[in-house]
Amino acid sequence: MCGIVGYIGIEPAVPVLMAGLEKLEYRGYDSAGISVCTDGIYTVKTKGGLSDLAKKIEQVTLPEATLGIGHTRWATHGVPSDVNSHPHVSQDGKISLVHNGIIENYLELKAELTEKGYRFLSETDTEIAAQLFASLYDGDMVATLRRMLQKIRGAYAFGIICSDHPDCLLAVRKDSPLLVGLGKNENFIASDIPALLEHTRDYYLLEDNEIVLLKQDGASVFDLEGRPVQKEVFHVTWDFSAAQKEGYDYFMMKEIMEQPRALLKTISPRMTQNGISLDGIGLTEEMISSLRRIHIVACGSAWHAGVVGRYVIEKLTRIPVEVDIASEFRYREPIFGENELCIIISQSGETADTLAALREAKRNGVRVLSIVNVVGSSIARESDDVLYTWAGPEIAVATTKGYTTQLAVLYLIALYFAKAKGTLSAQEEQTYLQELEKMPAKTESFLKNCGFLKGLAKQYAKREDFFIIGRGIDYAAAMESSLKLKEISYIHSEAYAAGELKHGTISLIEEGTPVIAIATQESLFEKLLSNIKEVKARGAKVIAIAKEGNRAIEDVADEVIYIPEAPDLLTASYNVLPMQVFAYHVAVARGCNVDKPRNLAKSVTVE
Ligand code: G6P
Repeated sequence: MCGIVGYIGIEPAVPVLMAGLEKLEYRGYDSAGISVCTDGIYTVKTKGGLSDLAKKIEQVTLPEATLGIGHTRWATHGVPSDVNSHPHVSQDGKISLVHNGIIENYLELKAELTEKGYRFLSETDTEIAAQLFASLYDGDMVATLRRMLQKIRGAYAFGIICSDHPDCLLAVRKDSPLLVGLGKNENFIASDIPALLEHTRDYYLLEDNEIVLLKQDGASVFDLEGRPVQKEVFHVTWDFSAAQKEGYDYFMMKEIMEQPRALLKTISPRMTQNGISLDGIGLTEEMISSLRRIHIVACGSAWHAGVVGRYVIEKLTRIPVEVDIASEFRYREPIFGENELCIIISQSGETADTLAALREAKRNGVRVLSIVNVVGSSIARESDDVLYTWAGPEIAVATTKGYTTQLAVLYLIALYFAKAKGTLSAQEEQTYLQELEKMPAKTESFLKNCGFLKGLAKQYAKREDFFIIGRGIDYAAAMESSLKLKEISYIHSEAYAAGELKHGTISLIEEGTPVIAIATQESLFEKLLSNIKEVKARGAKVIAIAKEGNRAIEDVADEVIYIPEAPDLLTASYNVLPMQVFAYHVAVARGCNVDKPRNLAKSVTVE
């Protein structure tokens, strides 16, 4: 989703802005632009990628500015085009502004401004903000922004420059991420840390409606009333290499291979002599024992992790669990009751729908426990309790280590709750704990030996439809597997509950239709074999995913991929691995841009 960078300092701004935007490319975008400021505002913007922008910049002579803003746009209001790209400049040419988010009352504001004689060039909501700022401008940038925010409804992160103030960069955020990077003789704004890392590791996290005025030698933060706000300086602890490809062709493969380490970092600090310890959560044993229901809410792959979580938590704790897609949750007026818990799952911690669901739960007095990867993100900050997935930065749009570490945390929660509720015998608990400890090593051993998947992927790379079937947890895993294939290879695929296929969808199976059958649940194995036979009888080509011990599957499937032996409840962590690797190689074979699939964004900050 849209990426913002801003720079004020002593270096030429253009290369800093371009390098920063490059680091935000992973968020997904369809156009880009920059404005720099000296004696006036100079803007270059274009539909397309950063290379198109670089070419356009070469063709014009931009002044040697040390102040500027840049943007990568993911279209919402208006098609990707040069004119709809950001920055947007006010009619008088004084103000340039970049925006991430959606201004909900933009039509109303547009009508007011049109009445006052303002004319608009683009179809965007953002241009309204640039013109509105200009219409309210009285020489004081901070005061003008405060007045503007009283008129705007919606979500925003804004970066603003003004030709009257070539020594100032102004920014604010609400419901859209924005960080302030603090350097020496230079300061920055950025949507995410990778854009800052080349210059500084110190940053402020802006809270909603905090305004920041950056100068070359400092950054002052104000609240909506204009009162100064003291901010805590955070320090990025992760390694710079985490945001580099380090020899891999794509971040996605690097991140797939990082899963053993990410799992180790997520699981092992939470394993103690006395069982699981969940750092920093305030839920008491008494609260857990009296839980009547759990709501899990998330989007995309995080929702898929939630679906697995439901099976595991219900089975181990006997607490009823409901799983919702965040964008649906709020609008179905969910019924909340006493002694309920909401588990919010989000890699980025910034997904707008998920954040809105969190707020809905809290508004209804429900305690929120979140599973988040990005430290200090909005979801982490607004939750009652946070359990971090220590996956490190995930750059590829398609999540891999984000998802498998979310599963790991869900297992930890299920086991912790089961112990508090007394629903698990000491021996069962031990077995699961040992299995969790072995998970990083087993993951590593699978990933080391999965080279054969490249050949398999090549064989299937030209197919246009896949079915992925499974039962129980394998069905949940099928959904995530199908999403991986769709996202990065653009192959249509459907995840189906294997037993449901015969109620309509089996009519789509014909000679040669590829069906991936995930068959790792012991209790459902025989049933799944029957489902495989049903599709085979109609000509399907079946690739099965099964546990190492279940060789019987070779009699019915055309190809078998074996995953490590594990208790049924933990298999989702393993059966997604071959599908991550398979989808990756299929996408590469089809010439797709694996890390930045078309139309997708890593962090979806609009509803
Ligand atoms: C986007 C990403 C998905 C991700 C989903 C939820 O659609 O492309 O990979 O699963 O958002 O993101 P979150 O950061 O909340 O886990």
